[in-house]
Amino acid sequence: MDISYIINELGEDRENYFNAIAPPIIQTSNFAFKKVDDMRKAFEDEYSTYLYSRGLNPTVDILCMKLAALDNAEDCLVFNSGAAAIFAAVLANVKSGDHIVSVDRPYTWAQKMFNDILPRFNVAVTYIDGTNIENFERAILPNTTLIYLESPNSWDFALQDLKAVAELARAENIITICDNSYCTPLYQRPIEFGIDLVLQSATKYIGGHSDTVAGVLSGSSKMIKRIFDSEYMNIGSGIQPFNAWLLIRGLRTLPARLERISASTRKVVSFLKQHPKVESVIFPFDEDFPQLQLAKQQMQGACGLLSFIMKAEDIHQIETFCESLKHILMAVSWGGHESLIIPRCSSLPASSFDLTNSEHRMLRLYVGLENPDYLIQDLQQAFDHT
Ligand SMILES: Cc1ncc(COP(=O)(O)O)c(C=O)c1O
Repeated sequence: MDISYIINELGEDRENYFNAIAPPIIQTSNFAFKKVDDMRKAFEDEYSTYLYSRGLNPTVDILCMKLAALDNAEDCLVFNSGAAAIFAAVLANVKSGDHIVSVDRPYTWAQKMFNDILPRFNVAVTYIDGTNIENFERAILPNTTLIYLESPNSWDFALQDLKAVAELARAENIITICDNSYCTPLYQRPIEFGIDLVLQSATKYIGGHSDTVAGVLSGSSKMIKRIFDSEYMNIGSGIQPFNAWLLIRGLRTLPARLERISASTRKVVSFLKQHPKVESVIFPFDEDFPQLQLAKQQMQGACGLLSFIMKAEDIHQIETFCESLKHILMAVSWGGHESLIIPRCSSLPASSFDLTNSEHRMLRLYVGLENPDYLIQDLQQAFDHT
């Protein structure tokens, strides 16, 4: 399906709402019935009709059709956060006594779920370096039911060979989940490599304006229906109609924003790579990236997130650099209009900063929609302050 068709037309039924270009926000909690039998059918299968907006809602449906098509998936659910999408996807595929193989350092709240919540229900996790397929083979146990991937990782951009992992998992009857937040479906479609469930934080590029928190989970109709009937309805963490409408609006400009951000990022990467105060730059489409070949094989592009290691003599130099930035904001997340930075040392007690550990000198930069020269000047003046 053509991306322009998906973004501009799919799921939209304008004749039913006064030929309005923008779809209505059906801000209702419930829907009325004229016939008892229709209500009975809705109770029997809430995925078949509008009953109550914790389940289906027409504005959310328009969004779901578009997002599933972008992922090249049969169906999808949209949650009120990416973390909720992760929680539902994992919970739906484990039971007491099961084992999960996860890539090292997945998104923080996935990790917290694996470490703090699942052990209470007798589900164990083994973390592996996912850059090597043999590590998956070695980690799989007879009770492994799930493999959890994040490719690329959102800090060091480590990739997994999605096709190889999917083949291995299928042969062992193991479900695969991939966090695709870095790429969005425009730059990577894990379902096409045989991954069962793909999720993304729609808070990032899909929303695109740093004003909505949301998450997408796509997969087969059967799997999505099963998750809707249980975890989605029970946790009650579906997206609200207004936020769904904001995401539809965000989708309209997604290709244009990604194109601009990707081009600006290349310029910023080149600037950082030649800067005397930068030790190295980590970016999946950079010629020095160790998994560049795999990146090019399975990704159509790399967007605005990159990390760099600063040549600092102490933690204060890194702090001064960040605090001297005039336009690039120090904040979590990414994917919005505004450029952002996070120093890795902000998640450490200052007393445990270790200069010899290059990770402690790492900064993650998100390149937004500003003019790249404006951002480069900001970075330069901040380096000049250190
Ligand atoms: C890689 C990744 N996955 C998932 C999430 C969770 O998404 P949300 O913040 O929308 O819950 C995030 C959030 O930053 C993320 O960075």
